Amino acid sequence: MPKALSDIGLIGLAVMGQNLALNIADHGFQISVYNRTVEKTDKFVAENPNTPGGLVGSKTLEEFVKSLAKPRKMVILVQAGKATDAVIDGLIPLLDKDDIIIDGGNALWTDTIRREKALKEKGLRFIGSGVSGGEEGARFGPSLMPGGEFAAWKELKPIWEAVAAKVDAKTGKPIAGAQPGKPVKGGVPCTTYIGENGAGHYVKMVHNGIEYGDMQMICEAYSLLSGLLGLKPADQGKIFSEWNAGALDSFLIEITADILKQKDPANKKKAFVDVVLDTAGQKGTGKWTSVNALDMGIAAPTIAESVFARCISAIKDERVAASKILKGPKKKKYKGGKAALIQAIHDALYASKICSYAQGFQLMRAAQKEYNWKLNFGEIAQIFRGGCIIRAAFLQKITEAYARNPNLANLLLDSYFNKTIQKTQENWRKVVALAAEYGIATPTFSSALAYYDSYRSARLPANLLQAQRDYFGAHTYERTDKPRGKFFHVDWPEAT
Ligand code: NAP
Ligand code: ATR
Repeated sequence: MPKALSDIGLIGLAVMGQNLALNIADHGFQISVYNRTVEKTDKFVAENPNTPGGLVGSKTLEEFVKSLAKPRKMVILVQAGKATDAVIDGLIPLLDKDDIIIDGGNALWTDTIRREKALKEKGLRFIGSGVSGGEEGARFGPSLMPGGEFAAWKELKPIWEAVAAKVDAKTGKPIAGAQPGKPVKGGVPCTTYIGENGAGHYVKMVHNGIEYGDMQMICEAYSLLSGLLGLKPADQGKIFSEWNAGALDSFLIEITADILKQKDPANKKKAFVDVVLDTAGQKGTGKWTSVNALDMGIAAPTIAESVFARCISAIKDERVAASKILKGPKKKKYKGGKAALIQAIHDALYASKICSYAQGFQLMRAAQKEYNWKLNFGEIAQIFRGGCIIRAAFLQKITEAYARNPNLANLLLDSYFNKTIQKTQENWRKVVALAAEYGIATPTFSSALAYYDSYRSARLPANLLQAQRDYFGAHTYERTDKPRGKFFHVDWPEAT
């Protein structure tokens, strides 16, 4: 028997919306659904008549709003940007005080701050929730990063916790096996309250920046295994499978192994990866992360390099032309041991990954100060363990690091990560040096190493830089032999 009023509503029945609606219904919640193009709603509801909670199709926004129990909760999953504003504008005149709009799109966090403020002035509540995990995650358990008023979150919590991905309480590993109508039982949900207004969407953005870094680092390992050892994709696939059984255990390493073992469906003699054009697209969240790092003055070079790597990949024709003119080092065969080099590349990947995550968490730390949020970094790492693209065993180590010290200045300073870098750095340096010697581009491996070496340097060459600034712009300088905050200037050119 359908309930008179639905527990929650969802607007936007594209890939994400349909899958999240089914996930919500699978958990026994009755959900009303609305889509701008009505035929999509009709088709979706007709195709899914027997979900445990039940789907209720609405042809108009008015009908949709009236079908919801109060305080109404409605999730928007439409294209981020103007479409989200258009839907919110359509909803406002139909809603009552304390109703809750949840934006699950990939919104820019500053848009979320603006929307939350505007809706609060009208007595409405707004949650900006990052939703990660693509289609599969939305259907069987995404990682959910909600930000907004805490009281509003408490209303949403039972539903968000039910539909989120689940990880095993002891191992931290994702619990698999969900089927339509049969979600997994038990486990720790991959969602937690992130913070006020735009905090959830900010964390989702940094998650995507980290994801860009992870993807590019894996590509560099693949490039080194090919360039230095001449390993075929299928053989590399086996190496990635082995890596997936160790410290690098993660969704992205797992799918990389699958991809490298895959044959081209059009020509079974070829490896699939060999026929894919080497130009990467991007939708912008990695760029947002990097722009924000620059705006806040936080070093996130590895994440930024992964965005630039996509940019340079996109100018294929220019690269092909340049390859005929610009020469690299003379070709020579790598003569070292194969197994040792494979291990070195593994170590370089792991050490670079630590630096990339350190940068992402530094960014969140700076944003919390900027926006007065109270972020729980251990919990954030915890909710990344299931559902999302960056899910990895490694995240458990980050949670443990913040449990040891919630005020950790940088992940690199944690005992586990420090020890791991000490163990891997010789190999890491060897790989970066080899890449330079053999002319193989490794922007994230190299920038991560430069980040590590800069961060651990008590003295950097910025003394000379500041002297230059004083010389040409009278920007003044501080002295090593005087207290900080006292500024000096030399009347250049100062002959000695
Ligand atoms: P999408 O292609 O981003 O959005 C399509 C949906 O938006 C359709 O329901 C469409 O309605 C609706 N829409 C567009 N303009 C509209 C307007 N002016 N007014 C009302 N509705 C409008 O769909 P998606 O890939 O499922 O993603 C939904 C959201 O989730 C996006 O913000 C996306 O960034 C985010 N997200 C996506 C993924 C992913 O892996 N795809 C993962 C995480 C988050 P019509 O059918 O009428 O055109
Ligand atoms: P998730 O939270 O699950 O990571 P997402 O943020 O929408 O979901 O994107 C998932 C991944 O798929 C991202 O790496 C995204 O890369 P871009 O930010 O570069 O787009 C990628 N992706 C999603 N849709 C894409 C599209 N239409 N074209 C290219 N890449 C896409």
